[in-house]
Amino acid sequence: MVKNLVKRFPGVLALDNVSFNLRKGEIHALLGENGAGKTTFVRILYGIYVPDSGEIYIEGKRVVFTSPLDAIRHGISLVSQIPQLIGSLTVSENIILGLEKYGMMANVRKVEDYIRRESEEIGIKIDPSTEVWKLSYTQKQLVELLRAVILGAKVLMLDEAITFLPIREKRRFFKFMRKFASQGGSVILITHKIPEALEIADRISVLRRGKYVGTVEAKAASLDTVRKMMFGERSTQITYERLPSSKPDEKVVLEVKDLWVMGDYGAFSVKGVNLRVRAGEVLGIAGVAGNGQLELVQAIMGLRKVRKGRVLVSADGNVIDVTNKGTGRVRSLGVGYIPDEPLKFGVSVENDIEENLAMLPLIARGVIKWGRLRKRAQELIDKFKVVTPSSRTPVKLLSGGNIMKVLVGRELSVAKRLLVAYNPTRALDEVTAVTVRKIIKDRVLRDRLAVLLVSEDLDEIFQVSDTVAVMNSGRIVGVFPIDKADRDQVEKLMVM
Ligand SMILES: Nc1ncnc2c1ncn2[C@@H]1O[C@H](COP(=O)(O)OP(=O)(O)O)[C@@H](O)[C@H]1O
Ligand SMILES: [Mg+2]
Repeated sequence: MVKNLVKRFPGVLALDNVSFNLRKGEIHALLGENGAGKTTFVRILYGIYVPDSGEIYIEGKRVVFTSPLDAIRHGISLVSQIPQLIGSLTVSENIILGLEKYGMMANVRKVEDYIRRESEEIGIKIDPSTEVWKLSYTQKQLVELLRAVILGAKVLMLDEAITFLPIREKRRFFKFMRKFASQGGSVILITHKIPEALEIADRISVLRRGKYVGTVEAKAASLDTVRKMMFGERSTQITYERLPSSKPDEKVVLEVKDLWVMGDYGAFSVKGVNLRVRAGEVLGIAGVAGNGQLELVQAIMGLRKVRKGRVLVSADGNVIDVTNKGTGRVRSLGVGYIPDEPLKFGVSVENDIEENLAMLPLIARGVIKWGRLRKRAQELIDKFKVVTPSSRTPVKLLSGGNIMKVLVGRELSVAKRLLVAYNPTRALDEVTAVTVRKIIKDRVLRDRLAVLLVSEDLDEIFQVSDTVAVMNSGRIVGVFPIDKADRDQVEKLMVM
């Protein structure tokens, strides 16, 4: 239980008198728009931040944490968006290291058996003797979670730890959480997605601008009531109506011809894909994650080898073959990119907002003009309402959604012709997501930008696309102009 927590950062009151209680055996979703104070809250419970005032009680006893060590000793663990594992060590070495660090007994055999058994049961297999750098993001996050349990967690806190996972994998994590709770553990799940909270949580609590809004039973709550709690008046800004669009131009900006790309496991993930994106057009690729979408965009961006086929970008009247020419070449043609795992591939979290803008060769060109850069950074902060003390704040101190805004803003300024976006609004709350979609669509209308949008979120696909393509098992299995696209049919093609 938590009473009257207050936490101030320079210039922001991050938590304003927040009280909260967590029951044994429950999954408790903690919701709030980007910057509401959720991360600050769990970091206090984990001993990373010390509150300015307020008290924490565990089973009636007052506790004071001065470091995560204290929290872990009291059975409280935190898993966040960025895995904290050491890449060059194996899974079990990472866990043993954790056990030793916290002065616990380490039995290697038992740890390995546990990892094997649990990961099998969850359906995301992990070999404990694998070096961590070889694991996928999903596997790393699962290792984090299993490590927390091995460290004796009675309270598991997930701070957007599964935000970037495909829906199918999220559900596997949900199953794990449910089992953990049914064995007497408690979970605090931070997410932006209300439907997910309604699906998995027993209770839902909401923070807004540092204030505690309330707690509801998930069974008794609806999308609408939770939206109102999260956004107040601004919940009326949430819309899934199609955004205004215009007829695409004749001019093809990106053409993909009979593309074949290998996945990570030696089989083809992209099998003969043909695509065209025109100026002034959003081509939305719908599909269940894992059907080759990621490999497709990586190949287009020069980040994954094309085995057969061509990627062509037109620039200034010339058609330029960028197949296997590397990402620098593609980007030099005015192509913006919002990658998967944005915190790893999209930004440098140790650097500040200005430096994250400067990293682009297009902007810096040898000599960095810091004055101009500062102005650009400030413009970006204003336009996207990035919540940050200043443009010199290290990106890792921003909330996940605000990092995403920095990335989207930067890539939109790079995108002179084409934006390739992989789930661009995944880490954003609904109001911010709508804002970002509108900003993207606006560039399409005004500047005739071409956009290749990959999204698992059909609401998003239907809201912004001019053309919808469905990808399944490495192939494009249907292409529809938006006014002929039927949602049921698209869904069927996704899973057939
Ligand atoms: N270490 C920090 N230094 C300064 N300001 C911070 C720090 N951490 C968070 N903030 C600010 O506190 C507010 C709440 O942030 P956060 O708890 O990360 O929100 P959420 O997780 O709900 O998106 C934001 O305005 C954020 O910029
Ligand atoms: Mg956060």
